[in-house]
Parts: sequence; structure tokens; C-alpha cells
Amino acid sequence: MLVAKYCLVLTLILTCSLDSLHLVHAQDDNPPGFVSIDCGLPEGSESRVSSTGIYYKSDANLIDSGVSESLLPSYLGNTVETYLSTVRSFPQGKKNCYTIQPSPGKGRKYLIRASFMYGNYDSLDQLPTFDLNLGTDTWSTIVFQDSYSVVRKEIIHVLSSDYVNICLIKTGTSTPFISALELRPLNSSMYPIDSGSLLTFQHIDCDSTRSNTVIRYPNDIYDRRWMPFNWTNTKVSTSLDIANKNEYLVPMEVLRTASRAQNINETFQFYWDTTNTSEEFYMYMHFVEVEKLQAGQSREFNIYINGLLWYAQLVPKYLNVNTIYSRGPKTGDTRYRVEINKTESSTLPPIISGYEIYTAKKFSNLGTNETDVAAIRNIKLTYQVRRDWQGDPCEPEDFLWDGLECSYHSSDHSARIISLNLSASGLTGDIVPSLANLTQLKTLDLSNNNLSGQVPEFLSEMPLSVLNLKGNNFTGPFPAQLLENKRKGILALSFDGPGNGTSRELCGRESCKNKGNNSTPAVAGAVVGSALFLAAILFGTWLLRRRALRVARKLGNQDQGNSGYLDKKKRQYTYAEVLNITGNFKRVLGNGGFGTVYHGHVGDTQVAVKMLSPTSTQGYKEFQAEASLLLSVSHKNLTSLVGYCNEGMNMGIIYEYMANRSLDEHLSGKNSGILRWETRLQIALDAAQGLEYLHHGCKPAIIHRDVKPSNILLNERFQAKLADFGLSRAYPVDGGTHVTTIVAGTPGYLDPNYNTSNRLTEKSDVFSFGVVLLVMITGRPQILTTEDRIHIAQWVDSIVQYGDVQQVVDPRFNRNYNVNSVWKAVELAMTCASRISSRRPTMNTVVMELKECLALEIGSHDADPNNSIEIVQIDPESSLVPGPR
Ligand SMILES: *[C@@H]1O[C@H](CO)[C@@H](O)[C@H](O)[C@H]1NC(C)=O
Ligand SMILES: *[C@@H]1O[C@H](CO)[C@@H](O)[C@H](O)[C@H]1NC(C)=O
Ligand SMILES: *[C@@H]1O[C@H](CO)[C@@H](O)[C@H](O)[C@H]1NC(C)=O
Ligand SMILES: *[C@@H]1O[C@H](CO)[C@@H](O)[C@H](O)[C@H]1NC(C)=O
Ligand SMILES: *[C@@H]1O[C@H](CO)[C@@H](O)[C@H](O)[C@H]1NC(C)=O
Ligand SMILES: *[C@@H]1O[C@H](CO)[C@@H](O)[C@H](O)[C@H]1NC(C)=O
Ligand SMILES: *[C@@H]1O[C@H](CO)[C@@H](O)[C@H](O)[C@H]1NC(C)=O
Ligand SMILES: *[C@@H]1O[C@H](CO)[C@@H](O)[C@H](O)[C@H]1NC(C)=O
Ligand SMILES: *[C@@H]1O[C@H](CO)[C@@H](O)[C@H](O)[C@H]1NC(C)=O
Repeated sequence: MLVAKYCLVLTLILTCSLDSLHLVHAQDDNPPGFVSIDCGLPEGSESRVSSTGIYYKSDANLIDSGVSESLLPSYLGNTVETYLSTVRSFPQGKKNCYTIQPSPGKGRKYLIRASFMYGNYDSLDQLPTFDLNLGTDTWSTIVFQDSYSVVRKEIIHVLSSDYVNICLIKTGTSTPFISALELRPLNSSMYPIDSGSLLTFQHIDCDSTRSNTVIRYPNDIYDRRWMPFNWTNTKVSTSLDIANKNEYLVPMEVLRTASRAQNINETFQFYWDTTNTSEEFYMYMHFVEVEKLQAGQSREFNIYINGLLWYAQLVPKYLNVNTIYSRGPKTGDTRYRVEINKTESSTLPPIISGYEIYTAKKFSNLGTNETDVAAIRNIKLTYQVRRDWQGDPCEPEDFLWDGLECSYHSSDHSARIISLNLSASGLTGDIVPSLANLTQLKTLDLSNNNLSGQVPEFLSEMPLSVLNLKGNNFTGPFPAQLLENKRKGILALSFDGPGNGTSRELCGRESCKNKGNNSTPAVAGAVVGSALFLAAILFGTWLLRRRALRVARKLGNQDQGNSGYLDKKKRQYTYAEVLNITGNFKRVLGNGGFGTVYHGHVGDTQVAVKMLSPTSTQGYKEFQAEASLLLSVSHKNLTSLVGYCNEGMNMGIIYEYMANRSLDEHLSGKNSGILRWETRLQIALDAAQGLEYLHHGCKPAIIHRDVKPSNILLNERFQAKLADFGLSRAYPVDGGTHVTTIVAGTPGYLDPNYNTSNRLTEKSDVFSFGVVLLVMITGRPQILTTEDRIHIAQWVDSIVQYGDVQQVVDPRFNRNYNVNSVWKAVELAMTCASRISSRRPTMNTVVMELKECLALEIGSHDADPNNSIEIVQIDPESSLVPGPR
């Protein structure tokens, strides 16, 4: 039964041609496909091994790192392998890789050999140990017996792409190095196994006539290294040519000599040992009948491995090669004993010419998608990127290329590049077209380089959610689709305009820096760092989840596969962390259109956590708008983002906490304290600066759309910050000067023009701000609670036209204010609240005027001995941040 089983899996290769092998390689010209690298050789130079005639070239242009070292001559002795005399060592970095592009490439089977000889090149006299990687997997661990011996690692490997990465990995304290690399293309039908690669265990030339001589190229056209091995058995040989037309092309020198059992009944045997019983062995045995048999003589034998018949009744053919192998491995033992027994009918003992043993090596990692690899390698080459970009870009994960982020869960299991940061990398020239081949790229940062030319259209066809082009020197028209994507909120776009008005500077942290001091750098970092949040979560993952849950309507078809990326972002909080931050949502700060705002702590910092109610679809859009805006803007007078939560249906935004809640509470008299005029002016100035930033610090301009006291929040120092960008929309650059949109906002603060025309401009915000200012001056609501519900602007106008400003001022000031300051403020507020929008000033003017008001007020203090210190009492249990509607 066992016999039958093994016979089924065995293959006999028999060739009958008598043609002799003819080698026609010029000695000074390497055979096609051979890659021979002498590591550490100076750039441009070559070394030649006289016995093979093969030239070895310098490795200098195959690797970015490492240093050349030479072995002491005393270690080299009379070695003929000149490529061992120099090494490249890698004192820097944990992973150093050669990227070799052999021809032919992908899909071809190669014998790859790496050679190492220590030779005390570093004068440390300490045998190093390190790992050798092929692609993204460990190939072997390199361990030395002594300084003189050469460690060689050989693998038969089918290339999965047009290039192969061979990496040296520092595993401990010693410095990796390498002496030589050789790649030899094989015939694809050689050494077939079902999957994986083969590590060479032994190539044995049985009873070679050439003592101590390794047989390799040119005798072996595949440059295998056949080691001579003497048995105590009898040697038999022939000087005749052997027909050698099977694909293994075992060298004639190996085939011409054979070992033979001494006497007829003797078993020819050998064995090998392993400590790893899981190791899988593959054996290839080569037989040639080298003796001319006489009449009546016969040679026939069986081959057993560990007592089990492996091949039965083999009759070697005269001067012909039989190669015997099994497609399946031998495994499960610590010792493998091969016995070759003559059959009963045989009159002669068994003979054997040579054999090879390999162990199987499975490579688990596919590495990064090769289209991505080709693209990123092209980018590296084009821009001459000076970074530690070696080996596979994404794998292994701990050796991810600097500036890249990858997803590891795509359907084909190969890693994909989803984020590329080439900021401040000295890039010049055009944007390289290869970027288009990074088809999963979500985040691209090319800022602060010296790139020029046109911004290519293809960027808008990529699934980008973050694109930073700032600090370059682009010219020409800017792709309209990118601006459109920005406007739709699916792309966080930053760039400088080319300066001819074709496009405008968009809002980004850098561009807006000069408009306001960034008082919360940590928070600003979060805003930028979590930029992916914008589209990836809000438009991608979340949508998909909602869709899966059949909650949401169809809002757009976005892209998945980014969860691996998101998991890594620092400012993302898990729902469990949010529970922790808010103490299980212990303290409610307020309820808004989208959900509830809670109080919490991130470390020692107080925060406000706005949780999106999963049932609110309308709220979701606004939530998204707010998040996207928070991500793209940063100003001391705008509430800033601390982090976010995106876990299942739990979506939340974490803001800085505003201890003194909203302005309206302080104006409405809900609090027992009042804000004096100077404080109110300062608050008005802060709010105006926030608006000025949105209108003029950002391009396209951002219109708040809901400026009102409850959206002006106050921190512990009564510094004001605008909140609630839920209704904000970026101003379009391509469609004129207004946006048509659904009427939103709060009665009384809403621009009357906007109310009737649905046309929205910055001046709408100016109107609202004017009303806010009037409310601050008068301490009255925007629509008076009198019977005719008159608007505050009308009311103020009706009084001040008679020249009596004191009649409208908040009586709670107790006349503690400078009249000129208030007058000026009233005039400013009234122009802002003009029904004709062209009469309204810009926020730049408003800020200037308010500064003057403030100066008048502060200047008057010196002369006013009754200047009172403001006392404000806060009820700590009733607060509201940020202001819900
Ligand atoms: C093998 O044996 C032959 C003679 O029996 C001897 O000349 C040769 O050196 C031996 N080779 C090795 C590698 O020991
Ligand atoms: C591989 O070997 C087979 C059989 O000897 C031969 O027909 C084929 O041409 C060889 N292929 C290459 C690429 O050398
Ligand atoms: C070999 O074995 C056969 C049968 O077992 C026996 O007849 C023969 O004498 C043996 N020959 C030698 C040389 O031992
Ligand atoms: C033993 O061999 C198997 C198969 O090659 C391999 O997966 C495993 O890592 C080896 N174990 C050790 C301890 O080397
Ligand atoms: C091979 O032959 C020897 C001697 O005849 C015998 O002892 C041994 O069991 C045989 N091996 C097998 C696997 O049959
Ligand atoms: C790599 O990505 C490209 C482009 O998305 C795709 O067409 C190709 O199938 C991927 N390759 C593999 C091996 O998955
Ligand atoms: C993109 O990839 C395709 C196929 O993978 C290739 O043919 C093309 O040259 C690549 N384009 C660029 C610009 O690298
Ligand atoms: C930007 O490009 C223009 C023309 O293409 C060139 O004159 C100018 O020097 C460039 N500026 C920088 C900073 O490279
Ligand atoms: C802006 O520059 C682009 C390309 O340089 C050009 O096509 C366009 O006409 C320019 N626009 C103006 C208004 O000069």
C-alpha cells in the first residue's frame, strides 16, 4: 500500500538524447540574467572570479545606506572568491535593503545566494549575528562559526514582482553586513513544488574526481555549488559524454562520477538530521549508469526513506540522466535515512551520481501591492527622496517607510499605501504622474517643497480626503474639481494661489497664522493631525456603517478600507475613552440639535464632548460640516478641537471647555453678575476677530451663518471664541459672490436680505454681528419683548437719531462707561445692521473700529476714580458649551 502511495507521487525524468552539452559563454561577459554583486566594492568598479569568469559589480547604486569595509588580507588566504574581500556593513538603521531588478523579472524562478564572511573586518573580533530577509519575510538568521568560514544562504524563489528586496536586519547589538549577492535565473520547470520556495540544504557531488573542489559555473550553467563528497564506497566513473537534456542540467563533472556500494548485497545509505520536526524536506537524486553492463548483468534498485519505499525498481540508463524527486515533502522526523537497496533480480550494487536536499520556505507576506510599490519607487526616484526608504514600503509593519501609512486589510491581502507625507522634503519639478497609481491614497502632503508646474487634474480623481500643496510654486489653473471637493467638504485642501486670481488661497493652519495667534498649539496639532477625520470618518466609514444599519439615506459613495489607518491616529478616542473622559456622561452641559454636550476631562484639561445622536440625520450633516471646519481652521477666537470619537454609531467631537459658557447667559441677566462695558468690548473684539479670520484669513471665505450671543463662548479669562460652525459653508470661488442655500440662522440675527433671497455673503455675518453688538450695548434681546416685537436695530435707531445714546445703553452699567466709546460702538453696530448690505463694513473695518472703542474706554479709566472691578458669579452646575440651538 505504501509502495502504491509513493509511486503515485514520484516522477521519473529520463532523457535519451546523446547530444553533448555545449556552453558558449564568453568568459568576460556574464551569462544572461546573472546578477552578481560584490558588496562594498567602490562604485563603478568590478571584481572577477577567475575560476568562473563571472564579473561582480559594485553594490553602490543598489542601496542607499551602509559603509564599505575590507577584510584583512590574512583572513582571505588563497581564496579564489575575490568578492569576499570587501563587505558592506550597516551600522545605521535596523533594516537595510538591496532592491534588485533582475531581468527577466516577475514570475521567474531564481537561485538567489547571499554570502557572508566576517574576517574581522571591523577589528572587533566579535562574530556578529543578524537576520537576512527576502522581501518582507525572514529568509534566514546569519550565525558564524568563526571569522574564516563563509556562510552562504541559497534559495530557489519565484519572483512575485519585477524586483526583489534583500534586507539585512539588525536583531541584537551586532552590526549586519554582507559580502556578495548572486541571482541566477533557473528554468521554471526545475524544482517544482506546490507552494513556497526552497532553501538549499545540500548539493552533493558523489565521489568527485576533483578533490576539495566545488563544482559551479561554468560547469553548472545555473551556478549551483556542488560539494564533493567521498564515501568509503567504491567510486565508478566514465570519461564519455552524458546525455543531459533534462531541465536540471546537472554538470557533466558531477554525473561522470558515481558512488557504488562495495559489494553486491550492501545497502548504499546516507542520512541527515534536523532539530525541527516541522521542517519539510525535498530531495532530488540524479542517477547515471556509467558502467557499460556486460551480458547477463543488471542494475536495479529501490530507494527507501526512513524504511518506506520512496522509489521502486529504478534502472539507471547508460550515459543518460535520471532525476528522481517527489512533489510532496518529507517531514515529521529528526533524522532522514536514505537507503538504496538492490532488487532481488539485480546482479550489480546501486550507484548514485549526486543529490540535492532542500527545505521548504513559505513566505506569508505578500508585501505591498506592487502597483503601489512601483509608484512609490518611481516617486522616490523622481524626487531623489532622501529618506530611509528601503525594502517594502508597508511591510513588515514595524519597518513602515517614514511618511507613509498603509492599510493592511484590503481584499487581496496586500498592503496599500493610504497616506503619503512628503512635506519639506526638498522636492522640485512637477507633481509626478506616478502619484495617480497610488489608487488608495487618502492623504497627501506635498507642502513646503519647491514643486512647480500645474497642479494636475488627476489629483481630483484620487480618493483623497486631505491634500496639502502649500508652500510650493505652482502655476496655471487650479483643478476646479479639487475646489469643488473642498466645497463639498469631502476634501481638506490647502494650497497657495498661483497669484493671478485664478484660484484663491484656501484656509489652512499655515495660511491663517498671521491672522491670529495660535493660543492652543496642542489643539492645533490635533486639528491638523486628525485631518483625515474629515472625510475618512465622516464620509466614509461612518456612512458605510450607517448604510449597513439601514439608518442613513444615500449620501454619496465613498470608500472603505481605511480603518487600519484610523486606528493609528493619535487624537482619536475610543468610545470607552470617551466614557472615561466624561465619567460615563455624568455632567450634561447642554442639548443641541445633534445631541448632547457633556463635560469631561482629558488629563487635567477640561473638555466639552459633543455626542452625535444616532437618530438625527439632519444633525449629522451639520456635525460633519462643523468637524470639517474645525479641522481646517485654527484661531484663538474660534473653539478648537481636542479630538474625536468614531466608534460604531458613537460619533463625538471633543472641544476645549469654555468655563464661562456663552455670552447670552451673561447678557440675559440669568447670572447675578454683569459684564461691564470694557469686558463686553473686549468680547466683541474677540468675536469680531474670529469672524474676520473666517472671512478674510481663509480662502475661500467661510461664512459662519449663525452669529449670535449663544455662539460666543467665554473661557475662564472671558476670552471669547466663536462656536458652532454647524451651519457654516465655505464660500465658493467659482460661482460668483454668493451661495444659495436653505435659510438657516436665528430670527433677529439673520440678515433680512438673506431671509428673502437665500443669498448668503460675508455681509450676512456682519449684519448678525451688528445685532450682537447692539444686544451687548443695550442688554436687551434682539427682538424686543414689547407688543409690536420691534427689532433692536429699529428701536436703537428710533432713539439715537435724537442724539441721546445714554437712553439705549444697558442700565446695569450704572453709567460706568465712556460715552464716546459707546457712541462709536452704537454707530458701528448700526452700520453693521444696515438693511442694505453694501453699506455694511467688512469685518476688517469692524475690528479696527472696535479697537478704537476699546482704546477710548481704557483711556478714560485713568481719569475715572470710580472704575469698578467686575464681579461675576458663576453657577457651576448650569453651563452650556458649546451653545446648542
Ligand atoms: C576522495 O577520495 C579520493 C581518493 O579516494 C581522494 O583523492 C580525494 O581527495 C577525496 N576527496 C575528498 C573531498 O576527500
Ligand atoms: C526549460 O526546460 C525545458 C525542458 O528541458 C525546455 O523545453 C525549455 O525550453 C526550458 N526553458 C527555458 C526557459 O530554458
Ligand atoms: C548476497 O545475498 C544473496 C541472497 O541473500 C546470497 O545468495 C549471496 O551469497 C550474497 N552475496 C554476497 C557476496 O554476500
Ligand atoms: C520549523 O520549521 C517550520 C517549517 O519550516 C517553521 O515554520 C518553524 O518556524 C521552524 N521552527 C523553528 C524553531 O525553527
Ligand atoms: C536494504 O537491504 C538491507 C540488506 O539487505 C536490509 O538490511 C534493509 O532492511 C533493506 N532496507 C529496506 C528498507 O528494505
Ligand atoms: C494592486 O492595485 C491595483 C490598483 O488598485 C489593482 O488593480 C491590482 O489588482 C492590485 N494588485 C494586487 C496583486 O492585488
Ligand atoms: C501606473 O501603473 C500602470 C500599470 O500598473 C503602468 O503601466 C503605468 O506606467 C503607471 N503609471 C505611472 C505614471 O507610473
Ligand atoms: C516660482 O516660479 C517662477 C516662474 O515659474 C520663478 O520665476 C520663481 O523664481 C519661482 N519662485 C521660487 C521661490 O522658486
Ligand atoms: C492665471 O494663470 C493661468 C496659467 O498661468 C492662465 O491660464 C490664466 O489665464 C491666468 N489668469 C489671469 C487672470 O491672468
